[in-house]
Amino acid sequence: MCPSPPASASQYTWAGRFSEPMSDLVKRYTASIDFDKRMWRQDIRGSLAHARMLARQSIISSQDLADIQRGMMQIVEEIEANAFAWSLELEDVHLNIEKRLTALVGDAGKRLHTGRSRNDQVATDIRLYLRDSIDDILVLLREFQNKLLDLAEREAATPMPGFTHMQVAQPITFGHHLMAWFEMTRRDAERFSDVRRRTNRLPLGAAALAGTTYPIDREFVAQELGFEGVCENSLDAVSDRDFAIEFCAASALLMMHFSRMSEELVLWMNPRFSFVRIADRFCTGSSIMPQKKNPDVPELARGKTGRVYGHLTALLTLMKGQPLAYNKDNQEDKEPLFDCVDTVTDTLRIFADMISGVSARPDNMLDALHQGYATATDLADYLTRKGLPFRDAHEAVGLAVRRAEELGVDLPQLSLAELQSFSELIGEDIFAVLTVEGSLSARNHLGGTAPEQVRASIARARSRL
Ligand code: ARG
Repeated sequence: MCPSPPASASQYTWAGRFSEPMSDLVKRYTASIDFDKRMWRQDIRGSLAHARMLARQSIISSQDLADIQRGMMQIVEEIEANAFAWSLELEDVHLNIEKRLTALVGDAGKRLHTGRSRNDQVATDIRLYLRDSIDDILVLLREFQNKLLDLAEREAATPMPGFTHMQVAQPITFGHHLMAWFEMTRRDAERFSDVRRRTNRLPLGAAALAGTTYPIDREFVAQELGFEGVCENSLDAVSDRDFAIEFCAASALLMMHFSRMSEELVLWMNPRFSFVRIADRFCTGSSIMPQKKNPDVPELARGKTGRVYGHLTALLTLMKGQPLAYNKDNQEDKEPLFDCVDTVTDTLRIFADMISGVSARPDNMLDALHQGYATATDLADYLTRKGLPFRDAHEAVGLAVRRAEELGVDLPQLSLAELQSFSELIGEDIFAVLTVEGSLSARNHLGGTAPEQVRASIARARSRL
């Protein structure tokens, strides 16, 4: 543990070599208080559990425990009232709180750190903080998903063009498209739950790196803090941040999904598409072009995805060169991690609100569908059902599309005689097949776009949420 900074540096024998400004810079360079104070609740929660264990094991007295509890209660009040004086001199959240505790309750405060090190303390704090954050994220994700399901339900039978290569491909329903978004976020939720399991293990007891000489009870502390178990190896417990990297990876994937949704919303808001409206409160105007309405929120979500990718890379790089056990490098894990938490939670919160402000413009979706020969595959499938090999059917339909293009019409507008010139297998029943409704309802299997299937998928999703 670093010694508390002296009143004047000259107290130290090495001080002569350091000029004051340099010493201030190093102080600022090595301090983490500006960003790690956000873990104060977790730090106090961890300390209280540790103190209860120390008293239970008769390592400290029950009077010490009572003093520590009383002091911590006052500290909580002070921090909540914004009356706590955070000090850069005291480097980090752990030393700030411990110093204040000692000022408030005397020797009991100095005994709190028995059998513990800041190395296992900080690892515990981060795990608690991440676990809390994951729980918040899971709640927010569920909120977003619920609203997404409401929209998908309203639009379960609304036809829109499905795209491949960004070209009109086949009719789908808007509800089906939204349910693809739902599936992406379902896996995101799974990933966060999975990260939670590995995050939820107790490092305390590892002390600096090798364990401690006191008769501690780690299982008790784990239970007190709601951890599912203890980290088995003391060196590993204080050094690895793989759980934080996993969290950033899950965050990066989630943001990738929200970025893709954002990209689609931006496209769909473009007047060339005009597939959707987004409530005005998520858009802004231009300071120079009075006619503009810009989809700022989805654009920013797309943009913020980059910083989360950056944080993942930062943490992977932070970890890769570190020998066992704790190194000060690890202090750099917090800012990327906290920014991931903030970016993901803000994005989820805003998307949950925004998605209920999205409405479809079915006429424009249908127009786009009629311009893209979207039911050409249905014609090919029809011919195949009548016995033509699929490759031959494909070629015949290609010729029919070319003819329709020449005439400037969609496939169902070709006359029966015209259609029959491409294949004698075509009968009067073709026109039902070539309509958008026919095309949609024909894809009636698990995972298909038929409105019936979309509704079933929404119902399954609701029962799982
Ligand atoms: N602020 C430090 C961190 O975030 C706490 C642990 C410091 N440990 C030490 N041995 N200097 O990692």
